[in-house]
Amino acid sequence: MILERRDFADRAVLAAALAETVATRLKAAIAERGEASIAVSGGTTPVQFFDILSQADLNWGMVSVTLVDERWVPPDHARSNARMVAENLLKNRAAAARFIPLYCDAARPEDGLSSILAALATVPMPFDVAVLGMGADGHTASFFPGGDHLAEALDPDNPALLTAMNAPGAGEPRITFNLAPILARGLIALHIEGEEKKTVLGQALADGPVADMPVRAVLRSGRPVSVFWAP
Ligand code: 6PG
Repeated sequence: MILERRDFADRAVLAAALAETVATRLKAAIAERGEASIAVSGGTTPVQFFDILSQADLNWGMVSVTLVDERWVPPDHARSNARMVAENLLKNRAAAARFIPLYCDAARPEDGLSSILAALATVPMPFDVAVLGMGADGHTASFFPGGDHLAEALDPDNPALLTAMNAPGAGEPRITFNLAPILARGLIALHIEGEEKKTVLGQALADGPVADMPVRAVLRSGRPVSVFWAP
C-alpha cells in the first residue's frame, strides 16, 4: 500500500489544498493530451472543495466530469449526487466542463446501465483524477457492506465499468463505477473529515475482511492513495 496522509488544521485549508492538487493534475492532462477527466463523489463532504475547484483557472471546456457513484433518484432530488455537483462544482469557471451523469430515466439502475454506458463512451478513460469519500460504515463509492453485487464491483478482473448496487445502508438503489476503472490511473484522493472518520480509517487500515469495510479494497489495492483529512 502506498498511502500518503495529508492532515490539515481545518476543512477550508484542506479544500484549498485538494482543489489545487486536482487542478494541477487536470492541467497536466490537458497539456499532455488536450483533454482530462475527473470522477467525483457526492455526499456532503465535497461542498467546499467543489466551490474552490470551480474557480480554478484551467481550460474546463476540455474537462469531462462524472461521478464515482450515484443514488438512483432524479437529478432534482435532494439526495442526487448530480444535483450536488451541479450546484457546487459546475459553476464559475467550471461551468464550461462537460458533465456525464450516472443516471437516466429508467426504473432501476440495472435498467439504465446500457444507456449510461453509451453516454460514458465519450469520457476519456482511465480518469486523471478520482476523488472518493468514505462513510462511517467503511463504504466508499457505492461499495457498501452487504451490497448485493459487492464482490463483482470489487473484482479487479471485472472488465465492466459499472455495477448496480443495493445495500441495507445505501438509502436507495445505487450505481457505481467498479473498483478497477476508479483505480486504473491518475490521482486517487480519499477525502474524509472529522474524528469519527479518522477512527474509521484507522479501523480500515487494520486487518480484517474487505467485505466488512469495502474501503479496504482501495487502501489495499497497491495504487497510491492520498488521504486528505481535517477535523
Ligand atoms: C454517496 C457517495 C459516498 C460518499 C460517502 C461519504 O453517494 O453516498 O459517493 O461514497 O462519498 O458516503 O458521504 P458524506 O460526504 O456525506 O459523509
